[in-house]
Amino acid sequence: MRSIRLRGVLLALAAFTLALASFSIYKNYSPAPFFPENGQTISSSQKMGHEGADQIIPVDESEVLRLRKKVRVFVWVMTSPKSKQRARAVNTTWATRADRDLLVYMSSEADPSLPAVGLSVKEGRNHLTAKTMQAFDYVYKHYFHKADYFMKADDDTYVIMENLRYFLSFFDTKEPFFTGRHFKPEVKQGFNSGGAGYVLSKEALARLAARPKDPPLCKEDGKGEDVEIARCLEKLEVRILNSTDSRGRSRFHTHEPVKHVIKGVSWMHNYDANVVRVVS
Ligand SMILES: *[C@@H]1O[C@H](CO)[C@@H](O)[C@H](O)[C@H]1NC(C)=O
Ligand SMILES: *[C@@H]1O[C@H](CO)[C@@H](O)[C@H](O)[C@H]1NC(C)=O
Repeated sequence: MRSIRLRGVLLALAAFTLALASFSIYKNYSPAPFFPENGQTISSSQKMGHEGADQIIPVDESEVLRLRKKVRVFVWVMTSPKSKQRARAVNTTWATRADRDLLVYMSSEADPSLPAVGLSVKEGRNHLTAKTMQAFDYVYKHYFHKADYFMKADDDTYVIMENLRYFLSFFDTKEPFFTGRHFKPEVKQGFNSGGAGYVLSKEALARLAARPKDPPLCKEDGKGEDVEIARCLEKLEVRILNSTDSRGRSRFHTHEPVKHVIKGVSWMHNYDANVVRVVS
């Protein structure tokens, strides 16, 4: 029993597509400009080059609580009956730092023990788009007014909720944008990797949920969920928000930390919208 649980936790950590790897909250930190290419900015608090931007301070619990109320992040975790163990590992690790009223697991079978919502979709790679579209529709229907941001994560994604809220606190959720690990190919403005998790603003979710279905504007099923969602959002004039920090460091990651930091992922250099940095 204990070893199963332990294995589950290790699995989540190993398969770790660690979102937001900055390990502490930065004081006076300011993120990169919102849409640097046309100079449009969202909030006046977004200024670059603050002194002390890199000073790492211990996490201040009161700040954590303040942000938790101010930046309500809804998270849905994509899982399946086969990978229940991963979902359990999420449940006992980073999900405890999420708002429990704002977190659901999405599967093809309902599981009240998590709890997981049972969507009427087929499992498998070829149906991830349907699962994602339906999940966002469900979230829109049941949680739209309860949160400010809406994140999709996988059951092997690890999210540091505090850092995510802090990052998002600099933006205006009424603007149509989404953010994550920004890759260049496939879609004109690129797409956000599914495995690293991505976040939609409230306006982005509203537009996605209101997408025309007859005839369909977007692909409602198929593989390549992250690309299809991005294609759809682009048609709905939802833009990608640059998630790197003012010094170009990444916040969303597709692989386990050691690969990003030390070994590097060779294909990513041509794929990433930003400069990929590795130590060696
Ligand atoms: C998941 O977490 C919730 C909230 O803490 C808990 O009620 C539920 O029993 C957990 N489920 C599993 C399978 O770990
Ligand atoms: C994102 O912001 C960083 C830091 O300002 C900048 O270096 C980078 O070019 C931007 N990326 C894109 C795709 O605009």
